[in-house]
Amino acid sequence: MSDLLDTLQRPIRDLRISVTDKCNFRCPYCMPAEIFGEKYEFLPKAEILTFEEITRLARIFVALGVTKIRVTGGEPLLRRDLETLIAKLSQISGVQDLTLTTNGYLLADKAQSLKDAGLHRLTVSLDAIDDQTFNRMSGRTHGSERVLKGIRAAEKAGFQAIKINAVVQKDINDHLVIDLAQHFHNTGHILRFIEFMDVGNRNNWNLDQVVPAAEIIDRIHTVLPLEPLDPNYTGEVAKRYRYLDGGGEIGIIASVTQPFCGDCTRARLSTDGKLYTCLFASEGTDLRDSLRRGASNAHLRDQIARIWRRRTDRYSEIRSNHTPATRKIEMYQIGG
Ligand code: GTP
Ligand code: 5AD
Ligand code: SF4
Ligand code: SF4
Repeated sequence: MSDLLDTLQRPIRDLRISVTDKCNFRCPYCMPAEIFGEKYEFLPKAEILTFEEITRLARIFVALGVTKIRVTGGEPLLRRDLETLIAKLSQISGVQDLTLTTNGYLLADKAQSLKDAGLHRLTVSLDAIDDQTFNRMSGRTHGSERVLKGIRAAEKAGFQAIKINAVVQKDINDHLVIDLAQHFHNTGHILRFIEFMDVGNRNNWNLDQVVPAAEIIDRIHTVLPLEPLDPNYTGEVAKRYRYLDGGGEIGIIASVTQPFCGDCTRARLSTDGKLYTCLFASEGTDLRDSLRRGASNAHLRDQIARIWRRRTDRYSEIRSNHTPATRKIEMYQIGG
């Protein structure tokens, strides 16, 4: 089959699968506690794709060119028996990279079983080590130790070069950027700073809250000198740097100041089975409906291919200083 390309000649390479819309954190920039209280109704079970449905779709995406799968949420470790899904996905031939993004809260208990199930890599979100700031960024009260413990358990289970993702928000956690860098310096893990983005409709984003990537790098460079590294692969989201003292690597995800839509090969599958072709999309295409109406694999493949061929998304490249008024999908519905 000839390569499936969108209107901007971008192939489909990555599939990001959200396995639950629930989360045990209440990061104010994603699921503010005032909105996501005890009474908030998450998706009922019947609306959530089963492991069989996810695996069937994943196989079809792989047949269309996907080689990398990332499992996300909400918080994916809240999905019961997630290891069973990981095992199924790891057996799909053609999946070269199988990875998962978690907030780390349940990781200490799950790391070994995820490794045993065949998960290749891990990314842990951690916006601050300092307890007070951690609590402010995560909407929890227990401090960062439990997440750090999760990371140690993952190391022990055999995960190497764990990615640590820190969203940077001006005047909230940006004073702790160096603290994070020092914490993960010389550990073999790869800390990545993410510019705060205008995903979803609830975080009252504006450009004043963004600390530009160049500034983050400058600040770290003054304490721990850095030099840039070449990307590992075309379209890598993070720009890479290494410490001149040999203390390892960090990354920066500059989706606001240096957008990377030109190489964006990512498709996203929401918990309820909608296909989104951009993190900032307003509409997805309901694949669950086709699945549950008994569509054949060939029909599903054609449906997905048609959507990809028509794809024009380049939101981050055309966004101005303010987020548009149109309604967008929320981050917890499709993961990062
Ligand atoms: P590796 O596979 O380890 O290289 O990870 P990755 O570079 O794919 O990064 P990851 O999936 O951990 O994404 C990190 C963060 O980058 C996400 O949480 C988002 O905040 C942001 N991000 C990832 N993909 C996109 C994208 O397609 N568009 C935008 N605007 N941001 C993205
Ligand atoms: N901007 C940047 N990153 C975000 N994330 C969630 N919301 C935003 C945002 N507005 C990150 C999380 C996590 C990943 C899933 O996405 O902190 O690291
Ligand atoms: Fe949960 Fe991640 Fe959203 Fe925080 S950013 S509330 S950890 S899904
Ligand atoms: Fe891809 Fe949309 Fe992100 Fe651009 S804004 S990199 S098109 S997901």
